[in-house]
Parts: sequence; C-alpha cells; structure tokens
Amino acid sequence: MNLNNYVAVITGGASGIGEATVRLFIERGAKVVIVDLNEERGSALEAELGERAWFYKADVSDSAQVQAMFQAIEEKYGVVDVLYNNAAYSLSKTLWDTTEEDWDRVMRVNLKGYFLCAKYALPLMKKSSHGSIICTGSELGVVGCVESLAYNTSKGGIIQFAKSLALELAPFGIRVNVVCPSGTETPAFIKDMSRTGNYEAEVARLISSYPLKRLGQPIDMAYAVAFFASEESSFITGTHLMVDGGYTAQ
Ligand SMILES: NC(=O)c1ccc[n+]([C@@H]2O[C@H](COP(=O)([O-])OP(=O)(O)OC[C@H]3O[C@@H](n4cnc5c(N)ncnc54)[C@H](O)[C@@H]3O)[C@@H](O)[C@H]2O)c1
Repeated sequence: MNLNNYVAVITGGASGIGEATVRLFIERGAKVVIVDLNEERGSALEAELGERAWFYKADVSDSAQVQAMFQAIEEKYGVVDVLYNNAAYSLSKTLWDTTEEDWDRVMRVNLKGYFLCAKYALPLMKKSSHGSIICTGSELGVVGCVESLAYNTSKGGIIQFAKSLALELAPFGIRVNVVCPSGTETPAFIKDMSRTGNYEAEVARLISSYPLKRLGQPIDMAYAVAFFASEESSFITGTHLMVDGGYTAQ
C-alpha cells in the first residue's frame, strides 16, 4: 500500500490505534499531521519520526480549533489527501449512571468531532483527486452491550455518518469508510479493562469470545486504515470493515 507523499491528517494520533497508523503511514511515504490533545506524546512522536510528521494540538470537538487547524494545514501543505477521524471519548456507564453531561461529551467528541474535521477538511480534500476519509467505529457500533450506552450509540452513528457522507462526496472522488475494531491493546483499552481490578481475568474473558483467540493490536487496525487510504481500495466507499477477530461473525 503506497501512500507516497499523501498528506494525511490523523486525529488521536498520539496514542494507541492512531499512533500505530501514524507510524505505518510515515513508513509508507505519507506526510502526517498528528492531531491530539496530548502535547507531550504528540511532540515526542513528531521529534522521533522526523520532518514528515507534524504534531498539531487541537480538540477535535471544538469548531474554532478545528478551523484554525485546517487553515494551518492549508498554509503548510495546501491539500489533504486522507483524513483519519479516530480520536474518541470512551465511557462505560449504564443509562442510570450516565449524566446528561456524559452523554453530551461522548456525542461532542465521537460524532461532532468527526463531523467538524470532515467539514473543514473538505475544501482541502477537494483539491486532491483521490481523497479518502476513514473513521474509527467499533464492534460496539454494530452489536449491543451493557454499560456502554452513549459510546455504543455514538459508534453506531459513525457507520451511518460514513454511508451518507460517502454518497455526498462520491461526485468529488472522495471516499468514506469505517474501520471497526474489537478489543485492541491500547492505553485506553488497558485502562478500561483494569476498572474491575483484575485486568488478566477481564482480558481472558474477552479473548474467549473472539474466534481468533487473541486481542487486536493497534497495527491490525492501522493496516485496514492504510488500505482504505490507498488506491487499492479505490472502488470501495460507504462501507464498514470489522477488524474484530471474527467476533461479529458469530
Ligand atoms: N482500543 C480498543 O479496544 C477499541 C475498540 C473499539 C474502538 N476503538 C476506537 O479506536 C479509537 C482509538 O482508540 P485507542 O484505544 O487507540 O485510544 P487511546 O486513548 O490510546 O488514543 C486516543 C487518543 O485520542 C486523543 N483524544 C481524545 N479526545 C480527543 C479530542 N477531543 N481531540 C483530540 N484528541 C483527542 C487522546 O489524547 C489519545 O491520544 C477510538 O475511536 C476508539 O473508540 C478502540
């Protein structure tokens, strides 16, 4: 998968799945804008990866920050070939425990953040002849599970967001697809699975429910994202790919 000289904007790029994707894209020749709130991690990654990596601190759910970011990207690179909407806020709570503020925060980061980045990337993506927007969904966007109501709802919404946006952007040659991970060993995952105080048991329980009998690794997701970013997927739009060890095939 050749991403030579593509300009790619990767949100949540300082950690986990986003970081693995940043590393893979750089390896495949792209110039990458690492968008994240975590300045320490983002700056360290920029310093490590060299001149094709550029860290930009922004909150993807804040319209003014997103607009300023794409203005800065326009000044630096002129175009955007790939937008990877990946930053999200994960919340594990029941309906009863979820406050209105919780609900709004999940929707603001996980849905409005994706909308804002797509909206303000669009003028820059229209300048490229092969734009691709990729969104991180989740297995929990297609199956239900308890204690994760707001997050699951947001992830289901991303699939519909991508389908509708794919139709709207097809005339411009811009494709929109979703990568849906299952449990993937990232800092967010480890924190979430440690909530009960027994990480090993929680992971073992999860792995036993996956036909391929292992957790996902960030690089598993990064390969799928790189495929959707590349010309090898040029006839694919409006779809979601389950990268879930077979979980949702059951
Ligand atoms: N890890 C899993 O098991 C799993 C499973 C399914 C889906 N996902 C999805 O994968 C994506 C990445 O998750 P991860 O596990 O790599 O998480 P992570 O916490 O390791 O990385 C997420 C990054 O996003 C950044 N971020 C969060 N909110 C932001 C905001 N408002 N603006 C800018 N940056 C922000 C964080 O600072 C962090 O660096 C998310 O969309 C998540 O919902 C993860």
